[in-house]
Amino acid sequence: MSDAQHDEAGDPPLFYDRHVFFCTNERPEGHPRGSCAAKGSVKLRDYMKARAKELGIKGVRVNSAGCLDRCELGPTLVIYPEGVWYRCETREDVDRVLEAHVRDGGRVPDLMLRPGDDPEKAK
Ligand code: FES
Repeated sequence: MSDAQHDEAGDPPLFYDRHVFFCTNERPEGHPRGSCAAKGSVKLRDYMKARAKELGIKGVRVNSAGCLDRCELGPTLVIYPEGVWYRCETREDVDRVLEAHVRDGGRVPDLMLRPGDDPEKAK
């Protein structure tokens, strides 16, 4: 949603400029879908929070999230208000997303997740 659409809808101003939801869901070993925690997401979320503070980025909140239902693509995170998803597997990935997207409002296309990236799930 653009700022104009936000204003047009009569919504209150954003509380956070950017709100990051980082999946830290954990599943038992051997679960067919795996989990973001098994791929290191808890440490990566901790790193992102600490690094955002170090960089002095204002107006951002980094929260842990339960399963975001894109487990096979993890570790996953989604940033609002844009609703852009990323896979961050390393601290370097976290740095890139923090600096380019969260701080500077740009994008990191090679780490982005798109709707077609998800495997077909059994219904
Ligand atoms: S376990 Fe992270 S998206 Fe499901």
